[in-house]
Amino acid sequence: MQVDEEKLRQYFSRGDEGAKLGSLDLSRMPRHVSIIMDGNGRWAQERGLERSAGHVAGVDSLREAVTTSVRLGIDVLSVYAFSTENWNRPQHEVDLLMHLFATTLLEELPLFHQENVRLRFFGDLTALPKETFEVFQEGLRSTQGNDGMVFALAVNYGSRAELVRAARELARMSAGGELDPNDIDSRMLEEKLYTAGLPDPDLLIRSSGELRLSNFLLWQLAYAELYVSERYWPDFSRWDYLQAVLAYQSRNRRFGGISA
Ligand code: IPE
Ligand code: IPE
Ligand code: MG
Repeated sequence: MQVDEEKLRQYFSRGDEGAKLGSLDLSRMPRHVSIIMDGNGRWAQERGLERSAGHVAGVDSLREAVTTSVRLGIDVLSVYAFSTENWNRPQHEVDLLMHLFATTLLEELPLFHQENVRLRFFGDLTALPKETFEVFQEGLRSTQGNDGMVFALAVNYGSRAELVRAARELARMSAGGELDPNDIDSRMLEEKLYTAGLPDPDLLIRSSGELRLSNFLLWQLAYAELYVSERYWPDFSRWDYLQAVLAYQSRNRRFGGISA
């Protein structure tokens, strides 16, 4: 995606010790950045607040991450907001999150339009509460004409469930005689994933220091560069994002080959 360098400079005008915009190589940007937004609960607990306060605070970081991605010219930003395992949390926390997704998405629609962002979802939306489901459909409908960055929100997403769903779909096609099982290849399976048509993530960022994938994009992250930030998600800023991209640019991606 085209970068407006003047806007980018303005956006990063406040100085920061760790990350330097001048070191950024605009010719080597990741196309697809994925983020596991983690640490909302711990952020709140350390302040003597309810976990829900951390989720509410995390919305501001997400808004900033969307804008940062656009300023950096990222093609696809995908974020993990709610996993298939997160249903195991206390009911009131699940309810709060589902309501927060709906209200936030509605509030952010003007930003998506202003930044020409197209919305997409990863996950089984049919299991969501009606309010959340309907707002998500409205978000999809209203942003489908935008042709800038794709912003994918993973909600009720789990990589294993996604792969099972793809396997079922291919099995159904085979059983119906549409497809010879011997013809199944990676490309065909990829077309059945929620990420169909998108490039694989180049950079995966996880906040709050945890060194695991927690069932996020297991297939698609095969060759992603991993970056873990110690910051809790509500504290994650544009500078932390820039730091992650600079780290990405310092890596030597080999894809199983040898160094160039
Ligand atoms: C991430 O923060 C948000 C969601 C999973 C919805 P957490 O709620 O997992 O926060 P921690 O990891 O417990 O601190
Ligand atoms: C991963 O975070 C899921 C999301 C960020 C939505 P979790 O907090 O649920 O992951 P674990 O339990 O620490 O692995
Ligand atoms: Mg967590």
